[in-house]
Amino acid sequence: MPKLVIVNTAGEEKEVEAQTGRTVMEVIRDAGFDDLLALCGGCCSCATCHVHVDPAFADKLPRSAPMKTTCWTAATTATAIRACRASCP
Ligand code: FES
Repeated sequence: MPKLVIVNTAGEEKEVEAQTGRTVMEVIRDAGFDDLLALCGGCCSCATCHVHVDPAFADKLPRSAPMKTTCWTAATTATAIRACRASCP
Protein backbone atom coordinates (compact mmCIF):
# COMPACT_ATOMS: atom_id res chain seq x y z
CA MET A 1 0.00 0.00 0.00
CA PRO A 2 1.49 3.37 -0.97
CA LYS A 3 2.27 5.92 1.70
CA LEU A 4 2.04 9.67 1.48
CA VAL A 5 4.03 12.02 3.67
CA ILE A 6 1.85 15.10 4.06
CA VAL A 7 3.18 18.41 5.33
CA ASN A 8 0.64 21.12 6.05
CA THR A 9 1.14 24.87 5.84
CA ALA A 10 2.27 24.96 9.49
CA GLY A 11 5.02 22.45 8.71
CA GLU A 12 3.37 19.61 10.61
CA GLU A 13 4.13 16.25 9.01
CA LYS A 14 2.12 13.05 8.98
CA GLU A 15 2.59 9.78 7.12
CA VAL A 16 -0.59 8.13 5.92
CA GLU A 17 -1.37 4.98 3.99
CA ALA A 18 -3.19 5.49 0.72
CA GLN A 19 -5.49 2.99 -0.89
CA THR A 20 -4.64 2.27 -4.49
CA GLY A 21 -6.95 4.11 -6.86
CA ARG A 22 -7.97 6.86 -4.46
CA THR A 23 -7.00 10.39 -5.34
CA VAL A 24 -4.33 12.23 -3.39
CA MET A 25 -7.02 14.77 -2.45
CA GLU A 26 -9.21 12.06 -0.90
CA VAL A 27 -6.30 10.65 1.07
CA ILE A 28 -5.23 14.05 2.41
CA ARG A 29 -8.81 15.12 3.20
CA ASP A 30 -9.62 11.86 4.99
CA ALA A 31 -6.39 12.13 7.01
CA GLY A 32 -7.86 15.25 8.60
CA PHE A 33 -5.80 17.98 7.00
CA ASP A 34 -8.02 21.06 6.99
CA ASP A 35 -5.58 23.03 4.84
CA LEU A 36 -6.83 21.18 1.78
CA LEU A 37 -10.33 22.54 1.22
CA ALA A 38 -11.33 20.61 -1.94
CA LEU A 39 -14.45 22.72 -2.15
CA CYS A 40 -15.75 21.16 -5.36
CA GLY A 41 -15.34 17.64 -4.04
CA GLY A 42 -12.98 16.59 -6.80
CA CYS A 43 -14.83 17.98 -9.82
CA CYS A 44 -11.73 19.92 -10.83
CA SER A 45 -13.47 23.28 -10.72
CA CYS A 46 -12.12 25.01 -7.60
CA ALA A 47 -8.31 24.54 -7.42
CA THR A 48 -8.47 24.44 -3.61
CA CYS A 49 -6.78 21.04 -3.66
CA HIS A 50 -3.55 22.49 -5.04
CA VAL A 51 -0.53 20.73 -3.52
CA HIS A 52 3.21 20.66 -4.07
CA VAL A 53 4.93 17.33 -4.61
CA ASP A 54 8.52 16.74 -3.53
CA PRO A 55 10.42 16.81 -6.85
CA ALA A 56 12.15 13.56 -5.89
CA PHE A 57 8.77 11.80 -6.05
CA ALA A 58 7.01 13.71 -8.82
CA ASP A 59 7.55 10.98 -11.42
CA LYS A 60 6.13 8.30 -9.10
CA LEU A 61 2.69 9.89 -8.93
CA PRO A 62 0.42 8.75 -11.75
CA ARG A 63 -2.21 11.27 -12.71
CA SER A 64 -5.77 10.68 -13.72
CA ALA A 65 -6.90 11.71 -17.12
CA PRO A 66 -7.89 15.36 -17.14
CA MET A 67 -11.61 16.09 -17.13
CA LYS A 68 -11.06 19.20 -19.20
CA THR A 69 -7.95 20.48 -20.89
CA THR A 70 -8.29 23.83 -19.14
CA CYS A 71 -8.59 22.13 -15.76
CA TRP A 72 -5.39 20.16 -16.17
CA THR A 73 -3.28 22.92 -17.61
CA ALA A 74 -4.31 25.58 -15.11
CA ALA A 75 -1.86 25.88 -12.24
CA THR A 76 -0.23 22.50 -12.71
CA THR A 77 3.40 21.62 -13.26
CA ALA A 78 5.40 18.49 -12.60
CA THR A 79 5.51 19.32 -8.88
CA ALA A 80 2.48 21.60 -8.34
CA ILE A 81 -0.71 19.69 -8.97
CA ARG A 82 -4.39 19.53 -8.20
CA ALA A 83 -4.61 16.64 -5.78
CA CYS A 84 -8.00 15.54 -7.10
CA ARG A 85 -6.37 14.76 -10.46
CA ALA A 86 -3.63 12.49 -9.08
CA SER A 87 -4.35 8.87 -8.22
CA CYS A 88 -2.44 6.73 -5.77
CA PRO A 89 -0.61 3.93 -7.56
S1 FES B 1 -11.09 19.47 -5.36
FE1 FES B 1 -11.70 21.16 -6.55
S2 FES B 1 -10.22 21.25 -8.12
FE2 FES B 1 -9.60 19.56 -6.91
